[in-house]
Amino acid sequence: MVTRRSVLGGAVAATGASLITGGALMPLLNARSAQAADGAGPRAVPVPPPFSVRMPTLPVLSPISTLGGQDTYYVTIKEVAREILPGAQTKVLTYDGHFPGPVLRARTGRRVVVRHRNNITMPVAVHLHGGNVSPENDGAPMDTFAPGTARTYTYLNQQPHAPLWFHDHAHHMESEHVYRGLSGSYLLTDDIEAALPLPAGQYEVPIALRDARFDEAGQLVYVMDDVFGRTTILANGRPSPYFQVAARKYRFRLLNSSNMRFFQLRLSDGGQMIQIGSDGGLLERPFTTDTVGLSPAERADVVIDFSRYPVGTKIVLENTLGPGTPDQVGKVLRFDVVRTASDPSRIPNVLRTLPAPAAATVQRHIGLSMDEDGRPEPRGLMDGRVWDADRIDQTIAHGTSEIWTVTNENKIAPHNFHMHLVQFRVLERNGAPAGPAEAGLKDTVRLFPGETVKLHATFNTYRGTYVYHCHLLDHSAMGMMANFRIR
Ligand code: C2O
Ligand code: CU
Repeated sequence: MVTRRSVLGGAVAATGASLITGGALMPLLNARSAQAADGAGPRAVPVPPPFSVRMPTLPVLSPISTLGGQDTYYVTIKEVAREILPGAQTKVLTYDGHFPGPVLRARTGRRVVVRHRNNITMPVAVHLHGGNVSPENDGAPMDTFAPGTARTYTYLNQQPHAPLWFHDHAHHMESEHVYRGLSGSYLLTDDIEAALPLPAGQYEVPIALRDARFDEAGQLVYVMDDVFGRTTILANGRPSPYFQVAARKYRFRLLNSSNMRFFQLRLSDGGQMIQIGSDGGLLERPFTTDTVGLSPAERADVVIDFSRYPVGTKIVLENTLGPGTPDQVGKVLRFDVVRTASDPSRIPNVLRTLPAPAAATVQRHIGLSMDEDGRPEPRGLMDGRVWDADRIDQTIAHGTSEIWTVTNENKIAPHNFHMHLVQFRVLERNGAPAGPAEAGLKDTVRLFPGETVKLHATFNTYRGTYVYHCHLLDHSAMGMMANFRIR
């Protein structure tokens, strides 16, 4: 049987050497990990056996002010050392010292203003992924701010609830910056979501999943397009941790913050999960599933009811996709059922209603590819071209809806597709109606080799120029990105 694991794993093995090199496109920070490795002495820091450390919950940022109808935050982007592997202090790039990034909680209709101070040595741009924001506040790839300076972003939050996230987007550096820690969650809620009796408080748990590669000194190693090397799985910043739960329902807000890793998640007993939401917020209807897929940047809102397990049960959240062996990348985290608890929460049969997609007046076809011919510096391409900041690739009439048919033209490399500004609908996948996990609002959609999706988007808010790109960030850093302009 051909499983996705063998497809992806074989894929990587086949192109191997060529994919690892980034040549001239290689970002600049690699010297840092080399230095750290040299300076840290001979003791090798091992990745611990699975489930030996506890999974922390993510810190929630506090506004410095809630006056004037807005929440104001000050965030400092800085390098700090944090314990990821037990016994090692790993240098990471952070928003305000948090690894993984913190959670900012926002509410539809209430303005959020974030002043970011850049205290690292490279320019940065902070992008609100999935956000409906004006071009000046989008954190676009060339709209960076320099070391030692600050930049204020204003988010009007005039969009429905959604589990957004924010991350670095400085072109050619986004990949390494995000890998080294510059990502955080932005959980936007609204009255519709807040009125539902879903698990809340300590029973609503954001979890950021990603992979990483460590050197002997326990420092992060960044090599561009390092599909083989990043085989340590982190859940909320710790390697394959355990998490103690009560025997009741939990709502997990999953984010794949990996640069390139696709997860296909399941419970070790094959138990059911209830997916209630995706990138753009709640689905119209929950559905029951034994597996949840997440390509880089995708989110899944998943309820697990641990009341079916006796106290003392340990259930592993497994990943069934490579690259990497099941031993390396198969164990994401373990849920330890340690107590009983009352559970007033409920999952309604209808979570929200979404408007039917408006009639589309324009059709476009987009092809994603990267060089797979073994050349030393493979390019990432959108419609055969490397990103050019000054080239407008698609011009869109304001107020219209369009259908974009997007194809992964590669034979080997998986990709995905993300558009800034809009939440779109997935009308079709490979000619068939999209499955239930893709039935809601989406901003990122997976594309295994040869796959085609048909997307519907409406451009009736801001005018201006935004990017669309593959969200395997090593690929977008290699050029797999293009511009659309709404006028
Ligand atoms: Cu997560 Cu250009 O975006
Ligand atoms: Cu890609």
